[in-house]
Amino acid sequence: VITSIEVHLPSPSPRRYRVHIAAGMLDDIPRRVAAMFPARRIWLITDSTVLRLYGRKLHRSLVRAGMDTVVLEIPPGEASKHERVVRAIQTHMLEQGIDRDSVIVALGGGVVGDTAGFVAATLLRGIAYVQVPTTLLAQVDSSVGGKVGINHRLGKNLIGAFHHPAAVYIDTALLSTLPAAEFRNGMAEVIKIAAATDREFFRELERRNRRLTRTAPGMLTHLVARAVRLKAGIVGRDEREQALRKVLNLGHTIGHAVEAASGFGIQHGEAVSIGLVAESRIACAMGMLPPADLARLSRLLRSAGLPVQIPRKLDRKRFASALAVDKKSALGMARFVLLRRLGQCVVGVSVPTPFLAAFTGDEA
Ligand SMILES: NC(=O)c1ccc[n+]([C@@H]2O[C@H](COP(=O)([O-])OP(=O)(O)OC[C@H]3O[C@@H](n4cnc5c(N)ncnc54)[C@H](O)[C@@H]3O)[C@@H](O)[C@H]2O)c1
Ligand SMILES: [Zn+2]
Repeated sequence: VITSIEVHLPSPSPRRYRVHIAAGMLDDIPRRVAAMFPARRIWLITDSTVLRLYGRKLHRSLVRAGMDTVVLEIPPGEASKHERVVRAIQTHMLEQGIDRDSVIVALGGGVVGDTAGFVAATLLRGIAYVQVPTTLLAQVDSSVGGKVGINHRLGKNLIGAFHHPAAVYIDTALLSTLPAAEFRNGMAEVIKIAAATDREFFRELERRNRRLTRTAPGMLTHLVARAVRLKAGIVGRDEREQALRKVLNLGHTIGHAVEAASGFGIQHGEAVSIGLVAESRIACAMGMLPPADLARLSRLLRSAGLPVQIPRKLDRKRFASALAVDKKSALGMARFVLLRRLGQCVVGVSVPTPFLAAFTGDEA
């Protein structure tokens, strides 16, 4: 069974694309891509780990389905979200003879999706691409929403664009090879979206948590579909982060600061988990959030194997300055997305300094 979710983009020009989710989806991709883009050249962009695991097989079956396919391999890891990598891919594609009908297939985690999507957004002012996310984080978060981009010396994701894929194909069976730490990273975002928008979903995660392993594809398909449906609903109504989309930043104001202050030694998902709890402590202290909801959030994150405390050894100075330059801050004041209850949050809350200082050190 394939679950299909439609993402509607109302503005500026109405468009839609579908997210197809199933265990075993990979086998169905060549047929679907060939039907959507007949007689077009395919550029399969992936990282070397994913190439070895799934890319060669997908390449073979694309060729078998009659598609002229070129494979482009990038090194795995965040360092690939770099202008040097983008330039190398673009040069290669231009030299090999790309035209506006070329299609990029981005097979991999968020790094591949963001980088390949950015290439697609910028080459010839934009060519079509499809996302085939292979990490839990990419399946529930980065592959849907149209944000693509790379890092800059001065910060993460500073160079980018909005460029939506023509389709997203999610194969939850691919998660069986994902390292446990990467699975936890994705779970942090799943718990985030449930906490931010859907109390029922949060309760379901609490019920199932013990059995949420990366080798239970049936359950994972259900869970990924639920998270994607929530994200699709949000980005469909607010494509460009005006207000609604900000709810997706729950836990990320402090999370980004923790990540940066650790010199990115703390993984994004772990940092988000820490941020979710720290920000919810602030919400509790301000009298916005019932303490029982904070306790449930903290418990669910911990039972998913995620940290919930700001590490003692974190560089407080770097943390405070990172918090001040967070993209979501306005006029130098930290603006937060805070929970009102599990499943509901408020955006743009300015936190009085005393509440902030309690969790971030005095400099903030
Ligand atoms: N565009 C967005 O809206 C958005 C949202 C959230 C995060 N992101 C970005 O996503 C990136 C993080 O993505 P990520 O967590 O997927 O990391 P990633 O792409 O680096 O993948 C993590 C690791 O897992 C490996 N891998 C991927 N799939 C695998 C599989 N099925 N089995 C075994 N190994 C596999 C990769 O080779 C890599 O080493 C960050 O750069 C972040 O900024 C973007
Ligand atoms: Zn995140």
